Amino acid sequence: MCGIVGYIGNEEAVPVLLNGLKRLEYRGYDSAGIAVLGQAGLLVRKSKGALPSLEDKIASETGQGGLNAVMGIGHTRWATHGEPSDINSHPHTDVSGKIAVVHNGIIENHAKLKAWLEAHGVVFRSETDTEVVAHLIDFHYNGDLLQAVTEALKRLEGSYALGIICESDPDRIIAVRKESPLVVGAGQGENLIASDVPALLEHTRDVYYLADREIAVLYRDRVEFFNEDGQSLQKEKSHVDWDAEAAEKGGYEHFMLKEINEQPKALTDTLRARLKNEGGTSINLEEIGFDASWAEARRVVIAACGTAWHAGVIGKHAFEYFAQIPADAEIASEYRYRNPLSDPKDIFIIISQSGETADTLAAMRMARKAGARIIAITNVVGSTLAREADLVMYTWAGPEIAVASTKAFTTQLMCVYLIALQFGMLRGVIAKNELTSHIEALEQLSGHATRILSAQENIQRFASRQFNKTKVFFMGRLFDYAVSLESALKLKEVSYTHSEAFAAGELKHGPIALVDTSTLVVAICTQTALFDKMDSNIKEVKARGAAALVITYDGVDYFDKTADEVFRIPRTEDSLTPILSVIPCQLYAYYCAVQRGLDPDKPRNLAKSVTVE
Ligand code: AGP
Repeated sequence: MCGIVGYIGNEEAVPVLLNGLKRLEYRGYDSAGIAVLGQAGLLVRKSKGALPSLEDKIASETGQGGLNAVMGIGHTRWATHGEPSDINSHPHTDVSGKIAVVHNGIIENHAKLKAWLEAHGVVFRSETDTEVVAHLIDFHYNGDLLQAVTEALKRLEGSYALGIICESDPDRIIAVRKESPLVVGAGQGENLIASDVPALLEHTRDVYYLADREIAVLYRDRVEFFNEDGQSLQKEKSHVDWDAEAAEKGGYEHFMLKEINEQPKALTDTLRARLKNEGGTSINLEEIGFDASWAEARRVVIAACGTAWHAGVIGKHAFEYFAQIPADAEIASEYRYRNPLSDPKDIFIIISQSGETADTLAAMRMARKAGARIIAITNVVGSTLAREADLVMYTWAGPEIAVASTKAFTTQLMCVYLIALQFGMLRGVIAKNELTSHIEALEQLSGHATRILSAQENIQRFASRQFNKTKVFFMGRLFDYAVSLESALKLKEVSYTHSEAFAAGELKHGPIALVDTSTLVVAICTQTALFDKMDSNIKEVKARGAAALVITYDGVDYFDKTADEVFRIPRTEDSLTPILSVIPCQLYAYYCAVQRGLDPDKPRNLAKSVTVE
């Protein structure tokens, strides 16, 4: 996720901005830039890569790292629209180079705005969605930057945190946010903005938290606030007591917990980026090059590793269910050494959070050799996977820092569902009205996830009683079995508990021999037609002394008598439940790790990106 800083005061701005950006490095980024206003007017410096390359660029010019300016804005970019490059890095400016903008978020209607601005003679330089903001402000600029910003905001759809400076209005920074974070730091004779508190702490602990659509105007000696219509607002100052490390985690104890809690937003961002509203809401994959020809496939093969493979297993079910097309989910490290019978009419979907996993890339290259067409689902713009695939669908999860994947998984699922539904539409399996109701169900998932997260203390309490269990088995059927696989992996990874996943019907074919009084069985029960089967399986493990936690829908009392504890999730379509039912399991893994005194963010022996075999 991008990082924003802004400074107006009496110090040389460049080191202040670079230092602030360093404090935001934990958010992940692929390029960085600053714009400062000083004696030489508006100067913009940006560079692909880590902050030292930007520092070197500035130092090679000035020799001492300053540009004689006491105000400016800075940005670390996590690429979304357009590859990491000097040109796509922020700040972006208007055509004349007098207005500079840094942005975090997604301007959803950027394509329309771009076409409109181009029709007014604007020539774009970058591939970013952000550049439209600079041109739009310039379009409305009539000597008053604040007014130009409020006018421009009326045209923007999507999410944004923005920092804006203007050469002809040199004594203030304008900042505004909607659905992306931005804090204002109130110092002595200096004021700052930042995406997150750590970037402010060296200057001040007094902050203002902006609400959606609130505008802050920062002068050296004061900050003024306005609503989106330009009316003045009074805001309460808050004092930050956290240390810098806690602040990086947004007040959460660990990145893993932060990322679990970021899922509602990540789901909304991933979904919104792929919907269009033209005579009713529909799925927009044309933008990424997915046309009707893709749906002529003979079979869909999904290849991935670890958590991403679990998303693939759910994808297999989704393709069979929504699109009635044969589908397989392949473990990439196995696939690459088999002699698979693939056909040029197969479509490969390769899933990888990092886009750099060695086995996954090898599987993709094999598929490519066999003549198959390839769709990548990844979280990293410009990754090897993104570059080599025919078509890329990005997850909008933002950088995932904890080694254990959480928000990347649920956003991968969102992508898989969207592709499966679009396949279903193009193959004539899903009628228009059915698609509308599936999309509505997808839109509700973010709110449902928020509700699950609001009850996380229940899982925490359960974990505090059960964390010492030496054997934890997850079981379910169909979609619930796939979630069991992911849940068992999560628990293994972060709490080092021996956990396994079983297809519930397989229990009596062997695994039940392991069940005794030391076993906890988590039964995921969201496949309504199979409730009675699951109930029998729970009774079987209970009869052998196991404790049973059931995860099922709100309002379902079917398992109340059988289970020791029931955790409920909001009702959705049975085929979409994985996005929800995995959340309590992620939380359970997290809280077990914490109870065991482990650091869930850095599990032993594991790496975030497995780039070697
Ligand atoms: C999940 O928690 C993992 N740490 C791991 O299984 C991961 O999903 C796997 O290594 C694949 O990574 P990728 O998504 O970056 O390809």
